[in-house]
Amino acid sequence: ACSSQTPTSADWQTVGSLAELDQNGELLVQKSPTFNVLVVGKSTNANLIAVNPTCTHSGCTVSWETEGNKFVCPCHGAEYDSAGQVLNGPATKPLKTYTAKIADNSVLVQA
Ligand code: FES
Repeated sequence: ACSSQTPTSADWQTVGSLAELDQNGELLVQKSPTFNVLVVGKSTNANLIAVNPTCTHSGCTVSWETEGNKFVCPCHGAEYDSAGQVLNGPATKPLKTYTAKIADNSVLVQA
């Protein structure tokens, strides 16, 4: 029996509208129990940041701090840079990152 499944080609999933993104500078969406995504940026940004905001320490949801250009976990203070890499513990593993793009006034994430 085949116990592990390799994902085939990744799908682009719509996570919200460009208007929603521009309003808050971020979009937090739970698409499924295993696919949470936090997109940070605005339509004027060339590169959107998209991560799974589930803290790798104990699973709290991190939030984005524009001033510090980093993600901060409210539970035990872990911090991650814009690429999801750990800046400060107690987390030791990076946040999962996704590729995001804008198309037809929608924000899409590849997952
Ligand atoms: Fe995020 Fe502990 S769950 S720092």
